Amino acid sequence: MNISSEKIPNNIGLSSDRRLKRALENWQPAFIDWWMEMGPAGFQEHHKVYLRTAVGVDSKGWAHFEHVRMPEYRWGIFLAEPENDRRIGFGDFYGQPVWQEIPGEYRNPLRRLIVTQGDTEPASVEQQRLLGQTCPSIYDLRNLFQVNVEEGRHLWAMVHLLHSYFGRDGREEAESLLLRRSGSEDAPRILGAFNQPVTSWLDFFMFAMFTDRDGKYQLLALAESSFDPLSRATRFMLTEEAHHMFVGETGVSRVVERTAQIMRDSKGLSEDVRKMGGIDLPTIQKHLNLWYSLSIDLFGGEVSSNAATYFANGLKGRAHEGKCADHQAEEGTYFLDVPENGRMAREEISVRNAMNEILRDSYTEDCQRGVDRWNKVLEKYGISDRLFLPSKRFHRHIGVYAGKHFDPQGTPIGDEEFNRRKAEWLPGPSDYEYEHNLMREAVYEPDKMANWIAPPRRGINGLPINYEYVRTEE
Ligand SMILES: [Fe+2]
Ligand SMILES: [Fe+2]
Repeated sequence: MNISSEKIPNNIGLSSDRRLKRALENWQPAFIDWWMEMGPAGFQEHHKVYLRTAVGVDSKGWAHFEHVRMPEYRWGIFLAEPENDRRIGFGDFYGQPVWQEIPGEYRNPLRRLIVTQGDTEPASVEQQRLLGQTCPSIYDLRNLFQVNVEEGRHLWAMVHLLHSYFGRDGREEAESLLLRRSGSEDAPRILGAFNQPVTSWLDFFMFAMFTDRDGKYQLLALAESSFDPLSRATRFMLTEEAHHMFVGETGVSRVVERTAQIMRDSKGLSEDVRKMGGIDLPTIQKHLNLWYSLSIDLFGGEVSSNAATYFANGLKGRAHEGKCADHQAEEGTYFLDVPENGRMAREEISVRNAMNEILRDSYTEDCQRGVDRWNKVLEKYGISDRLFLPSKRFHRHIGVYAGKHFDPQGTPIGDEEFNRRKAEWLPGPSDYEYEHNLMREAVYEPDKMANWIAPPRRGINGLPINYEYVRTEE
């Protein structure tokens, strides 16, 4: 397969940038090899998928929809429109003009930020590669593939920056992005949640709800960057990201709705849901606990001098920095509850050192709004159970709560209690066995929907729900 650079939709003047064009033409075959090996298994050759392709950055008409074979998807490179006279919005250089080139001293930290973001994009495709074989409907199958190809494009977005601004180091990093593998022993992906297997559709929906939303907050923070090309690249990525979270939030919501219907029909007994082929609320809560806790780890340690330096230097800001009161954040404190001898003690940290925690808090508020909407569904069906976000102390592997045990309410507990009750709080082998069995038969007929999930409210791009979103062709 050979896609020439003219076929790479872009708004960066690629055809007149011979050096970049050559670099991308060299990288592109390796990307396609990676996609064939690690992209959606079993749907590459004989299936055409109704996909959205970014073809511009105009907010009214940036996307084009058509049936395409996935390896022929036109992964493009787009930067959001430049802002006239854009100024640095936070940190020590507040008010100065933004950078079009990278000041030498910030090359390494910026490269690290871009590589870390870039690494998550192919990782999620790898994690989700087998899900097509157990899909609940072709509407959902199409949404999975839409998310996958766009994560591929996000990788392109970061690779474009590496090739354009980081010389030889950038080219090497771009190659490495195709060499690491999610879950691999020798060459794992950089961040924890991106090495976790995603084997059930409930995991996928939770991943798109919580882990893609971490992506949204990282992108919002990078969209504030003084390095203008990074800001513009991430601003456009956010346009696509919104759909990924829609897939996650509505996916879970439809599972909850189906569960609520079953509970209503069986007079409200959660125990009966599995007998009727649904996913019971305690199981949904366990998956929520898992993916929320893995996702909040992605924000890094609560107290972070790295985050303070990124902020001071204007590399990475807060979400919606424009709405923050004090853009220098030199004064002020953040109060953090820190475990000390089995109890919690309140610690004062400087706002700059608390940047990770501040971003995590914004993320949590956003997640809570989604959980509230799920609970509205339960309410509508007259069910009194509620889903909730566990405490941010629960099941952490990074930061001050790592290595200690807390229950989902945040109460410190001992090892013994945690191990005894773990199966109540996190999905375990018997939950996965149940789900894998439930999802074993994929649903590929346009008019059908698996029994464990309610149909969506509407189809894609104004089309009916039972439209043939994925077609088989010889
Ligand atoms: Fe992404
Ligand atoms: Fe995403």
